[in-house]
Amino acid sequence: MPNFSLDDRVFEAAAERFPTPFYLYDERGIRQAARELNAAFAWNEGFREYYAVKALPNPAVLRALMEEGCGLDCSSLPELLLAQRLGAKDGDIMFSANAMPGNELAFARKLGAVINLDDSSDVDLLAKNSGVPELVSVRVNPGSDLNRHNGIMGNPEDAKFGWMPSQIPEGLEKLKRMGARRFALHAMTVSNTLHEEYFASSAAWLFKLGLELESECGIPLAFVNLSGGLGIPYRPEESPVDLQRVSGLVREEYQKAFGPRRDVAIKTELGRLITGPFGWLVTRAIHRKETYRTYIGLDASASNLMRPAMYGAYHHVSVCGKRASPGEEVVDLTGALCENNDKFAIQRSLPRIEPDDILLIHDAGAHGHAMGYQYNGRLRCAEVLYTPEGDYRLIRRAETPEDYFRTLVET
Ligand SMILES: Cc1ncc(COP(=O)(O)O)c(C=O)c1O
Repeated sequence: MPNFSLDDRVFEAAAERFPTPFYLYDERGIRQAARELNAAFAWNEGFREYYAVKALPNPAVLRALMEEGCGLDCSSLPELLLAQRLGAKDGDIMFSANAMPGNELAFARKLGAVINLDDSSDVDLLAKNSGVPELVSVRVNPGSDLNRHNGIMGNPEDAKFGWMPSQIPEGLEKLKRMGARRFALHAMTVSNTLHEEYFASSAAWLFKLGLELESECGIPLAFVNLSGGLGIPYRPEESPVDLQRVSGLVREEYQKAFGPRRDVAIKTELGRLITGPFGWLVTRAIHRKETYRTYIGLDASASNLMRPAMYGAYHHVSVCGKRASPGEEVVDLTGALCENNDKFAIQRSLPRIEPDDILLIHDAGAHGHAMGYQYNGRLRCAEVLYTPEGDYRLIRRAETPEDYFRTLVET
């Protein structure tokens, strides 16, 4: 069930202060999600969540998560610069990129990030650009060993990410010769899963591989990074994952694999689970069109939230002040882009929508604003933080036409 924890009046009051469209994030909910995750995995001494910055790269939100004890999972130079501006210290950053540019590796090392190598060729790149640190993480692609299908990541064998398990022993030997004294394993094999056994089976597979590599290469396994991928209930008929259960299942696998050992830490890089349900795209109905279908035109478009156009992703939509009303008509909710996939909902049954009604596009707090773009000159919108004290803080202004022109080189 999408998150209905905030009253419509919260959004209506925000829409009186800020022009639509904008994103509204509930800071209390985000902090609570981080606390619940930390509490669920407290049994593992070295547990730490490295929030996936790409999911919601706004300093105000990242600062709140760092205050809750989270580190930051970065994947590019600008994300590293963001972490630096937030005062991330040694060990606060996990750097996972693929097709890694050498200068980004070097900068990540300068910030004390743990480097997660995506390919065996990255060993030489690391050595050349910054030297090999004492602790190195390797991203593994389990291939058909953990064959789970889903709409976003697909079959691991088709995915561009990570090393084949068979490539790792040679790579670790090389890293060891170059100075590595400990290693870590990372895998992200699925995206947006509500399947509670998912983390446990991935974890079990990684624990086993870690133990095999430890004995083969003679350097200790420092941590296993279970990465992101836990899902949220986008659809009304779905339920949230039970984190206590997920953690309990991982714990069982940990004990099976490591027995009395306690020195292997667990890390995660969850994005969606932490912020997804606590962000809404707030938009207004501005147009109604009756042709072969009824189209309600909104002032937001796919350039503000790309997921429906990109993945056919479902986002629940509610109309402020009409939450309790039954579906009265079947409509397509569209943006203004010259692309027919610019639709937030297709043939959705909703209460009758009048011009100026405020609509909430739910569960947009991860991979939402961050995926924004400027096609058709439709610019990225503002972000507003709704604080635990009930204040509204503008944490990113909307882009203006001046921003659109800023990168042009006039001739
Ligand atoms: C390396 C890595 N870690 C973590 C995440 C976060 O995934 P999610 O938000 O689905 O938990 C992603 C998502 O793209 C990723 O690529």
